[in-house]
Amino acid sequence: MTRHAVLAGVGGYLPKRVVTNDDLARTLDTSDEWISERTGIRQRHIADETETAAFMGAAAAEAALRRAGAGAGEVDGVIVATSTPDQAFPATAARIQAALGITRGFAFDLAAACSGFIYALAVADGMIRAGQASGILVIGSEVYSRILDWRDRTTCVLFGDGAGAVFLHAAEGPVTPGAPAVLSTHIHADGRYGDILYVDGAVGQPDRPGTLAMNGSAVFRHAVVNLAAAVEEALAVNHLDRASIDWLVPHQANRRIIDAMGKKLGLAPERVVVTIDRHANTSAASIPLALAEAVGDGRIRPGQLVLMEALGGGLTWGSALVRL
Ligand code: ACO
Repeated sequence: MTRHAVLAGVGGYLPKRVVTNDDLARTLDTSDEWISERTGIRQRHIADETETAAFMGAAAAEAALRRAGAGAGEVDGVIVATSTPDQAFPATAARIQAALGITRGFAFDLAAACSGFIYALAVADGMIRAGQASGILVIGSEVYSRILDWRDRTTCVLFGDGAGAVFLHAAEGPVTPGAPAVLSTHIHADGRYGDILYVDGAVGQPDRPGTLAMNGSAVFRHAVVNLAAAVEEALAVNHLDRASIDWLVPHQANRRIIDAMGKKLGLAPERVVVTIDRHANTSAASIPLALAEAVGDGRIRPGQLVLMEALGGGLTWGSALVRL
């Protein structure tokens, strides 16, 4: 029997504390003007010690379930995309499963840096199509503030903390035109470029600093080329043209990359969901957080076609096309 996945609900969580560019400029040789002109970022939310990846992910997941009108009993899998888990193990997903009172099914984390949410969505979609699960929470939760060198102005100004989640459930039968469905996901990696964006340090490497390092202009170049190809791939596989896309919900890395992708699709700026000005780059959380905001305020409506895309450390990248 053919089945497919439907995105039934979306939710987000942002830490209470807001840090503006001016706040950073008090202790760092930077300025609101430099940061906002180059990146579009004006502020970011920064987690306190109680706002762990598991805490924020659970809050976002609860909001997604509420929006879907679903209960914990309908969840038979939790997948968390994160590069900043609270512990090496148990997985953040297992912590969230317990926090939500879910006592069955599977739970695991997935690491694909800023593309993590697209990767997790692809895995969940595949599992639902294959009949391995019928209700999966897909969560992106990140605490990048803990892996930044706060003295390095070239990286620390770019990121923020937060979590976003969606609840996917199975629908029997093939996808019918115009009906809600995850239409396609595409994921890619090219490990040859692993050294242009990485976090050193791991369990067993206590002498390594464990902070993020990046060749910003190289990442920028790869993002523009690979994301454009990912968007074309999604459209071609679904036999759609650019005009059919109602919304672009991109990973929020840099305003200039977001604008370039919107332009490539020929979308009016108001059809591109932008949160980078207030959230900065929340890595795997950025797409579900942006989706939660635009669905929550009524901009994205049921039946509309949403294209998501991301590129991140690995390099990894990908796209997802979803009709809500
Ligand atoms: N404040 C003030 N000056 C700064 C700052 C800062 N925060 N950061 C760097 N500078 C200085 C540099 O030291 C340099 O000075 P110099 O000319 O005297 O040496 C100058 O500004 C220019 O630095 P560049 O690194 O060349 O700046 P660039 O224009 O490339 O912008 C940026 C940097 C914004 C990171 C850009 O490369 C970019 O957007 N890259 C895309 C990658 C990205 O968005 N990464 C986010 C994470 S990855 C992801 O999510 C995909």
